[in-house]
Amino acid sequence: ATNRTFTMIKPDAVENGNIGAILEKIQTAGFKIVAMKYTKLSKEDAEAFYAVHNERPFFGELVTFMTRGPIVAAILEKENAVEDFRTLIGATNPEDAAEGTIRKTFANSIQENAVHGSDSDENAAIEGAFHFSGREIF
Ligand code: CMP
Repeated sequence: ATNRTFTMIKPDAVENGNIGAILEKIQTAGFKIVAMKYTKLSKEDAEAFYAVHNERPFFGELVTFMTRGPIVAAILEKENAVEDFRTLIGATNPEDAAEGTIRKTFANSIQENAVHGSDSDENAAIEGAFHFSGREIF
């Protein structure tokens, strides 16, 4: 069924000038952008967004990284959106990501990995609602 996922173009990819190239890959792969904004996470935002990781050793670094510059947040719509988007972006660690995936093409490291993609329909809804009100989704 047609459903939605949530993505962020992370600070590394914004700094490297890759917003346009990443959006082109997303749209070419058949995802429809139903919401999008250029924004920046506060420390409190990043800690809340990544709360599931707060016991991980990399949590502090992750918050510092995700707050160091602006991001692009978006809600995407497609058949089988969550799974197909995770295929398009590739493995968390770009060294393990398949050829042609967004992370293989644009990511620097396991942390600075260019893009986020929700890991379930439930998290897609939670993460989308974190960034967008109903009036911002078309
Ligand atoms: P993402 O899967 O979008 O959300 C969790 C993020 O934590 C992940 O992307 C990376 O940016 C970061 N991350 C995951 N694993 C590690 C790790 N081992 N070291 C540093 N950062 C990580």
